[in-house]
Amino acid sequence: MALVELRDVSKVFPAASRHGSPVRAIDGVDLDVEAGDIYGIVGYSGAGKSTLIRLVNALETATSGSITVDGTEITGLPERRLQQVRRGIGMIFQQFNLLRSRTVYGNVAYPLEVAGVPKAEAHERIAELLQFVGLAEKAHTYTDQLSGGQKQRVGIARALATSPKLLLADESTSALDPETTQEVLALLRRVNEELGLTIMVITHEMEVVKSIANKVAVMEDGRIVERGSVFDVFSDPQQPVTRRFVSTIVDDVPDAETLARLRAVHPGRFVRLAFRDPAVRQAEVFAELIRRDVTFELVHGGMEDVGGRTFGNLTLSLRGSDADVDAALHAIGARLETRELR
Ligand SMILES: Nc1ncnc2c1ncn2[C@@H]1O[C@H](COP(=O)(O)OP(=O)(O)OP(=O)(O)O)[C@@H](O)[C@H]1O
Ligand SMILES: [Mg+2]
Repeated sequence: MALVELRDVSKVFPAASRHGSPVRAIDGVDLDVEAGDIYGIVGYSGAGKSTLIRLVNALETATSGSITVDGTEITGLPERRLQQVRRGIGMIFQQFNLLRSRTVYGNVAYPLEVAGVPKAEAHERIAELLQFVGLAEKAHTYTDQLSGGQKQRVGIARALATSPKLLLADESTSALDPETTQEVLALLRRVNEELGLTIMVITHEMEVVKSIANKVAVMEDGRIVERGSVFDVFSDPQQPVTRRFVSTIVDDVPDAETLARLRAVHPGRFVRLAFRDPAVRQAEVFAELIRRDVTFELVHGGMEDVGGRTFGNLTLSLRGSDADVDAALHAIGARLETRELR
């Protein structure tokens, strides 16, 4: 059984006023998050990402469907049992949500106090956690003297305090600069690899998904419209919304304006080659062109590496007789998707 299972889950918020209409924030969602996954959830604003996460940690109750976390069906559970379930789930936020009146130490101590952990035991746990997130020397600093990245590390230490199995991260790096983002993502990767936590990461940045997730689901209008391994989804997106997200980090065909500019500089026929299957080597493809007396230049696109596998889209300008170019494209087309840009 997956660590988190959603079956046909919907969440409808009642109309805000008498003239308004109800909002179906989550609409018939099925989802399996396996133990050990770092599962990215992406979607534009209003797609339902935060609502989905809030259903998983029972901050919202589903209107229909069933949600199971670590073997416990949480829909319809009484509040006292829900508190137990929530203790097995850590959460980090975009705005960190730290207590300003407390030091770093005090913030990490908070969930342990709530759980009634004895002081001495808590002390040991906090020291261990601050060591893990690299903030041992900042234990007695107040949080408003910390950088954004340090604040999020406190947030992570606090989320880990009660030793949860599952960590939920809602836009946890959106308030950080790119370098700090990478630091926090590296820490989340250690949380997954060294401590064995399963992580659900909500984000609108594909860069975040690309750098830490193994699986991704794309949400639109409360539904999951596409999902799969990060490699599969990134290398061959099916839905328009997924293509838009993937295009933020993987170039596909040049847009019309770019294409016009390229044509002015590069004569020849333009062809986009889609490298998806790691078994299809660029070297073989280029050798085929040379063998057919077709000369080529790479004018647009690039290759991406996801989880050690490479894919990408390369647009080439090809020069040669029409017959030679046609024959070359025919031969290459048997190995990968080619598209002539006209
Ligand atoms: N408490 C609420 N009451 C009424 N409507 C809500 C409530 N929470 C969310 N919604 C609505 O549900 C839909 C999904 O909202 P949600 O916050 O889950 O989106 P999101 O994908 O997290 O967006 P963002 O990227 O902006 O954070 C939106 O239309 C939102 O207005
Ligand atoms: Mg949100």
